[in-house]
This record gives sequence, C-alpha cells and structure tokens, in this order.
Amino acid sequence: MIRAVKGTRDLLPPATAVWNHVEAAARELFRTYNYQEIRTPILEETQLFTRSVGEETDIVMKEMYSFVDRDGSSLTLRPECTASVIRAYIEHRMDQWPGLKKLYYIGPMFRRERPQKGRYRQFSQIGAECIGSESPLVDAEMIELSLEILARCGIEGARLLLNSVGCPACRPAFVAELRSRLAAVKHQLCADCQRRSETNPLRVLDSKLASEQAVIETLPRITDHLCAACREHYTQLQEQLRLRDIPFAENWRLVRGLDYYTRTTFEVTAPGLGAQNAVCGGGRYDGLVELLGGPSVKGIGFAVGTDRLVLALSPKTAAARVDLYIAWIGATYPAAVRLAQQLREKGLRVELPHIEQKLGRSLELAAKLGVRSAVIVGEEELASGQLTVRDLSTGAQKRVAEADLVQHVQAAVPG
Ligand code: HAM
Repeated sequence: MIRAVKGTRDLLPPATAVWNHVEAAARELFRTYNYQEIRTPILEETQLFTRSVGEETDIVMKEMYSFVDRDGSSLTLRPECTASVIRAYIEHRMDQWPGLKKLYYIGPMFRRERPQKGRYRQFSQIGAECIGSESPLVDAEMIELSLEILARCGIEGARLLLNSVGCPACRPAFVAELRSRLAAVKHQLCADCQRRSETNPLRVLDSKLASEQAVIETLPRITDHLCAACREHYTQLQEQLRLRDIPFAENWRLVRGLDYYTRTTFEVTAPGLGAQNAVCGGGRYDGLVELLGGPSVKGIGFAVGTDRLVLALSPKTAAARVDLYIAWIGATYPAAVRLAQQLREKGLRVELPHIEQKLGRSLELAAKLGVRSAVIVGEEELASGQLTVRDLSTGAQKRVAEADLVQHVQAAVPG
C-alpha cells in the first residue's frame, strides 16, 4: 500500500468543511480590512530563502525541500511566503502602485521538521503582509487583524507575546555583547548553540533545550539595548495595542526563527496544542525589500498556521446535514432528476441515489447518511401530484403538493 509521505496528511470530510469555514472567515475578514489576495508559486529559486530567511536558521540549514532542476538551477518548495510576496512586490514594481500594499495569502508551505502534533512537513498558512510603512499604527492594526482571525474562527484563550528585536542601528552592538557573554558560558551550551553563539547569537535565545534555559536567562536582553527610535516605536506600539484593548505579554526571547525581522516581533499562542502552541507568528521586516534588491520600503506581516488553528478549535462542528434524499422507483427517475435540479438551484443539499432501491432500503440508507428528510417519488405520487415527505428523525410523514415541495423543504432547514 502506498501511504501519504511522512509529515503530510490527507484532509478528509468532515474536517475539510471546518477548513473551508476557517478560510472563508479569514477571507471575509481580510476584505473588511481592505486586504487583497496574492497567489505566488510554490516553487521558488532557493536563493530567495537563503538570502531572506537567513543561512544560519533551522529552516534554511535543515528544513528546506530543495532540489537541482534539470537545467542545473536550485529550486525550493516554499517554507514560508513572506519572501515570495516580497519577490513578487519587487518583480511587479508594486512600489509604484498607490498607497500601502495590503496582501494576504492562503496555502501550503513545506518544512522538513520532525513531525508531531501540530507540526507537519506540509502545512498551511493564512498570512498577510502590509508593505509601505514603518508606522507602529500599522503594526497594531496587523496584530489586531491576526487576533481577529483567531477570534472569528472560535479560538478561545489566545495569548499575544510581544518583543522588539531592534534595527541595524542598535542590534549589532547588542549582538556583539551577546556574543561575548555567550563565549563565557559556551561550555554549558549544546553543539548547535555553540555554533550559533558565533554565527548568529540571537538564535540561541530560541533554544528550547531544558539544560540551557538557566544560562539563557542570565543573558543580556535586547529590549534594554534599543536605540531611541526603536524604543519609541515599541512604546507607541504598546500604546496602540492598549487603545485597541488588546492585552499582551512582553517576551524578550521572542526573536523568531527567521532572520529578516526588525523591531516588532510577535506570536500568538492558543491552549490545547501541546508543545507546538504558536498558532500565529509575525513581525516587521524593514530591510527585507532592499535585501532582495528592491527599493527602501518597510513592511510587517504575520502567518497563522491553519493546521494548528483547526486543531485548537473544539471539535463541535458536526458533519453537514443533507437536506433531502429523493427516493425514486423505476419510471419516476426522470421526475426525480428534475426535482433534484429545482431543489439544488435553491441551494439545498440533495442526495439523488443513482441506483433504484426498494423504498424501505432507501429510507434506511438516508437515515444512515444523516439526512433530515426524504421525499418519496412513486408512480402514485406523481399521478396525484402529491409527494410524501418523511422526517427521518421523527418518522412523521406529510403529503405535500409537488409545487410546494421546495418551499416546504426550505422551511425545514435551519438558518
Ligand atoms: P513562522 O513563525 O515560521 O512565520 O510560521 C507561522 C506559523 O505557521 C506558526 O506560528 C505555526 O502556527 C505555523 N507553522 C510553522 N511551521 C509549521 C509546521 N511545521 N507545521 C504546522 N504549522 C507550522 C512565518 O512563516 C512568517 N513568514 C510569518 C510572517 C509573515 N512574518 C512576517 N510576515
């Protein structure tokens, strides 16, 4: 038997209905915030991610699905979408378009991580990018939008974690200090962190290794080393969040697993997810457009992990009910087809069996499928123009004139 590749999953009904609901709710919310959809390719040149996400990140070092194409070029299945959106922004000269560029995307990403609950090798994100401003007001609206997506989908107990990781004016001095402090405690770190403490010291703060936590807690904190402009930005962002009644907790270790961030970084956690409790991550990337060869334009964005969002929802969403089952016999099939057409046109969910069945068998099957009611289309019924409608949960039957059937069934369907 050929199975799905490790770390990938089939989404089956009724779960797919939940996914569709979540994605539709997000799309509707994006519309109200005046965000528009962008669809970028899943395949990109590998260097797009090595340059933006960063050579020293886990994503680039260990997790990318990269391969050499037949013409010798190196391609990668996108591990995230911010880099792709910025590439498209530059390629299509979107800086010349009026106003802020407010874009959203929904789709699969690929990272070769160790699979566990809430962590997959193919996973899906609902993300947004706002390109063209460095204002903390934009950061606050972005955070509000990410939280609103979760709230609209029914997530309860979401927690916002906030940090500022500084900018090219203040971060290098901080990183130098961090590096020298790390050199002194190097012997207490794992091999990975020993390497990172030289190549990319901020990454050490990401470490989840229990044995390293005590020593990491003694390290200097970037929020104590921000330049005046970054400090002001961070203060204003916090004021803006208060203005919007958005509670947050500061977390100085929130440096995030991607190198392009400047100033604001944030994550949202949700209960019930176990170790992989970050349901959303994002931040500002003021140098990214330039780094990828574009103009000096600043931006911020986030991505919600749809798999985790769906996992965090309480499983109260029942399978969608079929509104009507059409039980036909022999010669009445053409009338049943026309009836199904009329009912479906009205938006009802109709099951028209493709094989003839005895009436009893038909009703039994309909009940198993969780259908609300069945209409019996027999020869006698057709001749009299009065169809029999049977409520499958109560067993009650009613004669309904053919002309009134649509209205009758519609009235029986809730909301
Ligand atoms: P990220 O934190 O790497 O950020 O991913 C965002 C979210 O995607 C995570 O919080 C998590 O919910 C979900 N996610 C990540 N990896 C997996 C996985 N292996 N399995 C399941 N879910 C996962 C980014 O990707 C940035 N591009 C976000 C961003 C947009 N920053 C600025 N703009």
